Amino acid sequence: MNMEAGAKSSATSLLDLFPGANGVNGYPMITDHTEAIEKRLRHFSQATLYLCMEELTQNDSAYASERQLMQQALAKRRKEFFSGRHLARQALKRAGFPVQAIARGPLGNPIWPAQAIGSITHDQRYGAVIVGHERDVAGIGIDLIEDPNQVDSEIASLFMHPDEKTILGSRFPDAPVTAVVFSIKESVVKAISVHIGRFMDLLEIHLTVSNHCISARIDGLPFHIPCIVIATEFGLLTASILRSEN
Ligand SMILES: CC(C)(COP(=O)(O)OP(=O)(O)OC[C@H]1O[C@@H](n2cnc3c(N)ncnc32)[C@H](O)[C@@H]1OP(=O)(O)O)[C@@H](O)C(=O)NCCC(=O)NCCS
Repeated sequence: MNMEAGAKSSATSLLDLFPGANGVNGYPMITDHTEAIEKRLRHFSQATLYLCMEELTQNDSAYASERQLMQQALAKRRKEFFSGRHLARQALKRAGFPVQAIARGPLGNPIWPAQAIGSITHDQRYGAVIVGHERDVAGIGIDLIEDPNQVDSEIASLFMHPDEKTILGSRFPDAPVTAVVFSIKESVVKAISVHIGRFMDLLEIHLTVSNHCISARIDGLPFHIPCIVIATEFGLLTASILRSEN
């Protein structure tokens, strides 16, 4: 996620935000290896998901269609876009899908190969991509916030309901609740916007916690979307899944 509009200058590390060994959902808080994060996401989703996560390094693409999409873009945007596509191909390859150009849909969504589902996120330094098979999950969204203090609490009313502050603030006492809620909702948008076929307002999304599990509901829609928040050395990573039975 990029929060330039509401960015603050503070740079508290996640290790400061999540001191001690207390875990979320029974897991240790700090998970530094992509492999371990992938394992947690597989456990959470009950699906064989493939996660690729690394520093943003790519300034170009071998695919003309991707270069075309970035023709007018500034260097920073080109880097995050091309690095995201590069990571996506790594994840697709690991998952056994064709390695190909990844077009962009009308909602800004990546167009995955047939039967693949996935999600891309990038922040200032790192990017992450998750890919799976549509027979296992109908949709997935991920979001990375490298510095949770970037999310300005002054704009919280644009995306957070008052009860969410209470529910999630007590659940993650060491993280700014605004960052947790914002990131979860961004991941929800990525998991479902293609299914509903339109842009979404984050206030349409309502987060609840039941039996220690976070889930999202959308105004007027039947979806029930499980969500997870993982503190990693890359930053705060959230994921949401749309199960096939939704
Ligand atoms: C779409 C949205 C979730 C993107 O999140 P972000 O924090 O800006 O950026 P991230 O780096 O985490 O993720 C960006 C990636 O999300 C993916 N993405 C963008 N729109 C998407 C959508 N509708 N569905 C699924 N994935 C989407 C793209 O792959 C994008 O990277 P790329 O353009 O390089 O391919 C966010 O802008 C959003 O829509 N928020 C909802 C409120 C809002 O502003 N709505 C109006 C615009 S959608």
